[in-house]
Amino acid sequence: MIPAILPTYNRAPLSFVSGEGSWLVERDGRRFLDLGAGIAVNALGHAHPDLTRALTEQAGMLWHTSNLFHIPQQEALAEKLVAATFADTVFFTNSGTESCELAVKMARKYWSEKGQPERHVILAFTGSFHGRSSAGIAAAGSEKMTKGFGPLLPGFRHLPFGDHEALYAAMAEPDVAAVLLEPVQGEGGIVPVPDQCLKGLRDLCDETGTLMILDEVQCGMGRTGRLFAHEWAGVAPDIMMVAKGIGGGFPLGALLATENAAACMSAGSHGSTYGGNPLACAVGNAVMDIVATDGFLSDVRRKAGLLRQGLEGLVASHPDVFEGVRGSGLMLGLKCKVANTDVLQAAYAQEMILVPAADNVLRILPPLNIADDDIREAVARLHRAAASVTTRVTA
Ligand SMILES: Cc1ncc(COP(=O)(O)O)c(C=O)c1O
Repeated sequence: MIPAILPTYNRAPLSFVSGEGSWLVERDGRRFLDLGAGIAVNALGHAHPDLTRALTEQAGMLWHTSNLFHIPQQEALAEKLVAATFADTVFFTNSGTESCELAVKMARKYWSEKGQPERHVILAFTGSFHGRSSAGIAAAGSEKMTKGFGPLLPGFRHLPFGDHEALYAAMAEPDVAAVLLEPVQGEGGIVPVPDQCLKGLRDLCDETGTLMILDEVQCGMGRTGRLFAHEWAGVAPDIMMVAKGIGGGFPLGALLATENAAACMSAGSHGSTYGGNPLACAVGNAVMDIVATDGFLSDVRRKAGLLRQGLEGLVASHPDVFEGVRGSGLMLGLKCKVANTDVLQAAYAQEMILVPAADNVLRILPPLNIADDDIREAVARLHRAAASVTTRVTA
């Protein structure tokens, strides 16, 4: 019999009742060190007092009015995002998937308004992930995500990740509207795009007029040690998708764009019932205020250095279990030699949460404000988990 919850997830036999900082409490009382942060969502850990206060204060005043009215919390957050980024304007959504939908719509409308509706193709890359809607799965294009869901939304062309020749050829086609990519692929196994490549792509976009859409749903909001990952390369996109960390655990997403890219979107061309409601934006403002505090991102970079050093040591100590560590800031991946699911189970046994990804990788995505002691504890637990896997493999 089908369960009451549609069984689209293989869930771990764990269920948490409370959380504090980087720790989650299982219903049996065990305390788990959370290196997954709800898949890069709980950017400030669990039950952060400022976020809890922002949410509960707003909850006592007003939850929702709809976008038929001005929403001061939304305007305040948009202004902060505009001030801190390349963007001139923001549309709030409830998820990364919805940000992807708008990104695709905006890129196509941009060319349609310019009298070139034939420029509607979005170039995307193998290994990418942009959400589970029809546009999201068509953008990623993998068989795993699209099989059985056809006919797929047309107008996406997929390029092998890292194949420059294929990219040059594809960008030269006259029907290309935009190129869509994650600066660091998340679900694909923590695969960063080298800064030089992002720069080269920006140049190609400028030469051809193609819009650059960056999906920073997972790698944005401070995760790599900069507010947004593309800042490391010193380039700016035309359109950017954001979600996850921006709400710190409350469902909130955003689409950021330059005035040039967004000018095609007039009243009535897009909308959302919930997107950017007072409750979500109250929390979003609290997250943004903390992440934008002087010293916050430099501390993320320092913590990332500490964690990375620990992980390099881990890999060196367990060459039979791990192949290497990769990623940027606090968005790290352990490439496994044994099945990543075996290491994941061993981590659960050590009361620690990791997140599996493609390419036999385990993602390490702790809260951005994880305590230094918790980083050291995480590395110690990882050593124990790896040792237990080794024992099993050699037994
Ligand atoms: C890079 C990227 N884009 C888009 C999405 C979809 O976001 P959501 O699950 O909030 O719809 C995700 C989710 O994991 C993601 O990692």
